[in-house]
Amino acid sequence: MGKESLSITDNRTGKAYEVPIEHGAIRGMDLRKIKVSDDDFGLMSYDPAFMNTASCRSTITFIDGDKGILHYRGYPIEQLSEQSTYLEVAYLLLHGELPTADQLSDWAWKITHHTWIHENLKKFMDGFHHDAHPMGMLVSGVAALSPFYPEAKNGTDAETRQLQIVRLIAKMPTLAAFTYRHSLGMPYAYPDNDLSYTGNFLNMLWKTTEAQYKPDPVLEKALEVLFILHADHEQNCSTNAVRSVGSSQVDPYCAVAAGVAALYGPLHGGANEEVLKMLQAIGSKDKIPEFVKQVKEGKAKLMGFGHRVYKNYDPRAKIIKRMADEVFAVTRPNPLLPMALELERIALQDDYFVSRKLYPNVDFYSGLIYQAMGFPVAMFPVLFAIPRTSGWLAQWQEMRADAEQKIARPRQLYLGSALRDYVPIASRNSEEEP
Ligand code: CMC
Repeated sequence: MGKESLSITDNRTGKAYEVPIEHGAIRGMDLRKIKVSDDDFGLMSYDPAFMNTASCRSTITFIDGDKGILHYRGYPIEQLSEQSTYLEVAYLLLHGELPTADQLSDWAWKITHHTWIHENLKKFMDGFHHDAHPMGMLVSGVAALSPFYPEAKNGTDAETRQLQIVRLIAKMPTLAAFTYRHSLGMPYAYPDNDLSYTGNFLNMLWKTTEAQYKPDPVLEKALEVLFILHADHEQNCSTNAVRSVGSSQVDPYCAVAAGVAALYGPLHGGANEEVLKMLQAIGSKDKIPEFVKQVKEGKAKLMGFGHRVYKNYDPRAKIIKRMADEVFAVTRPNPLLPMALELERIALQDDYFVSRKLYPNVDFYSGLIYQAMGFPVAMFPVLFAIPRTSGWLAQWQEMRADAEQKIARPRQLYLGSALRDYVPIASRNSEEEP
């Protein structure tokens, strides 16, 4: 193999430069020395939407988008989803290694004993209309935790950071369940420390008059798997938001609220909600060819298909699709499933999708399971935000510990007006307006 460097000739000046290559990348700052004159700012790279820019070095999650591979800390998602639990995976993401039995029980104890939220947060929830979108309530609810924990501002102290991490992972299901109960006008159900992380979440959603809520083990396990699959996904839109906002050294509640906000969008975590709406709008199998035609004409989007990184079947979608039958055996089959399968079959035979490498992503089948489990469509992105919190926090923690990171501040290419003098209003000619 040749030298690990890049030779660049600037054809504007004829000067040659050598730039080191490390881990398959050059440093953006190395381009700055490429100048046409001493007072030139130096060369920048232009990369809207970060299509080809690494913003950090990370040891958390590995994705091979061409092969459809996903690993957390080196462990394949298939093994974790089959053999692990969500809390164990959260520990792995945050600590880098699987816990011992003692570490896991200590970790689970801590999370279980931080699930309660301040009673004043209930009043805050009560301020929303009954039909407020639960994701809007969650964004605000997470941000509203910030003033309750002013010590969280001290991001330099490792122990303080750990406490906020535990609090956020523990309180997320409580906040999420409260948004749901609020939308139904039901009294909030408090956490039950005898239940698992997912079992307790189901309890806070669906407990009514029984002395102790008993989650269905199949549904509890299915939610556990769905939570594992959604726990982290390296530098996606919401994680980038958490890192970027967190780089200002704001407390993690505000940084994670930014992540929830980013996740809300229909191109990101809101896509699972859009898939259900799309399937309902298509209505029946015989309308699928017409819908696919509209997608190809650019009049509609096939929600739950395509991914910035995966150019192959999303491994998470494969696991969810396999799991669907187990869940439907307990609930009842989702009548939209045959339509989703047919839509996938037709799309994967069509050159439009094949040539663009558009495959089902994690959101294509997850909503069908959530719906069969009894969740309203608006809760789907909330179900994504709960487990993604551990990934956001692992990434936030890594960013805070990375000596190379500074406040995130991209450059721009300014293409606006050159310097000009202010024109008093009386002298402006309205006919010159565009
Ligand atoms: N339906 C129809 N065409 C599509 C789709 C789709 N779902 N996704 C991409 N394309 C086309 C796109 O129009 C473009 O075509 P052309 O080259 O002719 O202009 C080509 O495929 C490349 O797409 P892109 O928009 O440049 O790709 P991107 O990497 O910027 O976007 C994406 C990735 C996920 C935003 C996009 O595929 C999309 O909008 N998918 C639907 C929404 C969705 O399911 N989002 C969930 C993503 S996975 C979970 C998560 O991250 O939350």
